[in-house]
Amino acid sequence: MQEIKFYSGENIPLELHKVRIVQKLNLVPIERRLEALYEGGFNTFRLNTRDVFLDMLTDSGTNAMSDNQLAAMMQADDAYAGSQSFDRLLKAVNDVLGKKYLLPVHQGRAAENIISVAYVHKGSLVPMNYHFTTAMAHITDKGGQIVELLYDEAYVINSSHPFKGNMNIEKLEEVINYNGPKNIPFIRMEASTNLIGGQPFSVQNLRDVRALADKYKIRLVLDCSLLGENAYLVLQREPEFKDSDMETVIKTMTGLADLCYFSARKLSSSRGGGICTDSMEIFKELEAFIPLYEGFLTYGGMSIREVEAMAVGLYETLDETIISQSPTFIKYLVDSLDAKGIPMIKPAGVLGAHVDAMQLCAHIPQTEYPAGALAAALFLISGVRGMERGSISNQRDEYGNETYADMELLRLAVPRRVFTLSQIKYVEDRLTWLYENRLLIGGLKFVYEPPVLRFFMGGLAPTSDWPQQLMAKFKEDFGDSL
Ligand code: F0G
Repeated sequence: MQEIKFYSGENIPLELHKVRIVQKLNLVPIERRLEALYEGGFNTFRLNTRDVFLDMLTDSGTNAMSDNQLAAMMQADDAYAGSQSFDRLLKAVNDVLGKKYLLPVHQGRAAENIISVAYVHKGSLVPMNYHFTTAMAHITDKGGQIVELLYDEAYVINSSHPFKGNMNIEKLEEVINYNGPKNIPFIRMEASTNLIGGQPFSVQNLRDVRALADKYKIRLVLDCSLLGENAYLVLQREPEFKDSDMETVIKTMTGLADLCYFSARKLSSSRGGGICTDSMEIFKELEAFIPLYEGFLTYGGMSIREVEAMAVGLYETLDETIISQSPTFIKYLVDSLDAKGIPMIKPAGVLGAHVDAMQLCAHIPQTEYPAGALAAALFLISGVRGMERGSISNQRDEYGNETYADMELLRLAVPRRVFTLSQIKYVEDRLTWLYENRLLIGGLKFVYEPPVLRFFMGGLAPTSDWPQQLMAKFKEDFGDSL
């Protein structure tokens, strides 16, 4: 994509879209935000958007849709079976992802459920570059286990490594030999490894994984939820592809996998999801689970309007001006916070900017959830809702013990074409203030802990009156300002 330079020399990510439908936001007073935190158990998932100013919880289902997607929704062919809308989606999957067969599902984790139901048993081990919460939950739910095989560089916060999401090839071969290929139903590669800061893998790394999958006759499953962004970063960072294009990179990556699945809430900016493959054998192994868990094979639990939006959105994934919007805003935010000394995951990845809470809240022990505390504190002083991606998002082990996360991150998602640059600058401003007042942030403890995926609905409480003290300091510095 051609760079657009400013005469001033400033490096500004220019929006290549215009806003035609808008939604009013609420910036409520800090006293109300404090109440909202207590009502929501200091868990940002449990806040209501009435109280949220900038919703940076996730990009899932919150990316802006295009005029063409909305137009396509009007031609939805609502039929239980044999809908023409499904034909259009299948064609988009053929054209963009290069796969012949498609099984539609209602969202990404439904694909993870079906793949796990079909292939994972007690004693199964699934190697992956890194887990995603729902992928892991479905595998362990079926009695399997996962093993994460990244290179050490992936855990370095302040790094310039272009592909921190790369699978550790040497360890992968060791794990296969140690456990035996028969116990490994598939290898899972996640594009733009979500939980370590939206970090991509290289095409060469995926080729190396493929070579081992071939050698030991193991299926290779690719989680494509953030594939567009991974492809964009391959164009930016992998020399072999510097003159290539999105279509080539995407097809090269999907072509290396036996089975691809995706959350269309991310890929294609719509809703729903899908599983696709070129193998009739795999298709047949999974097919029967779609009507059982999701819906008929031509809608898979999705509304037909979303099926139409997804088809258009898949084609739009090939447009670098659309896919680059979120990563360039993220880079802008990461670079400006980094320049102020705020510990950020570097290099900037995709999905969101990630603050290293382990460093920023070094005074809070991991037993008191520094990333969750930071998420609550940022919401309190700004109305910006981020997401904890640390130990609260981890699940307990089989004996019920806490498993502390490798990284304690506050994720500030930047959904595609949603925020303006002045809003990004507001986040930068408030986070800078919070950094300077970080010692006022205290810890959290669980008061209600659900047994599965506890981070969604869990309830926490502050370990002292630190929220009140932080609010008092905010009022001292900002006076009447919201
Ligand atoms: N895989 C990846 C890499 C994801 O990021 C997600 C969802 C899923 C699978 C599951 O898809 O939500 O449609 O069921 N990520 C969201 C997030 C929830 O906020 O990062 P889903």
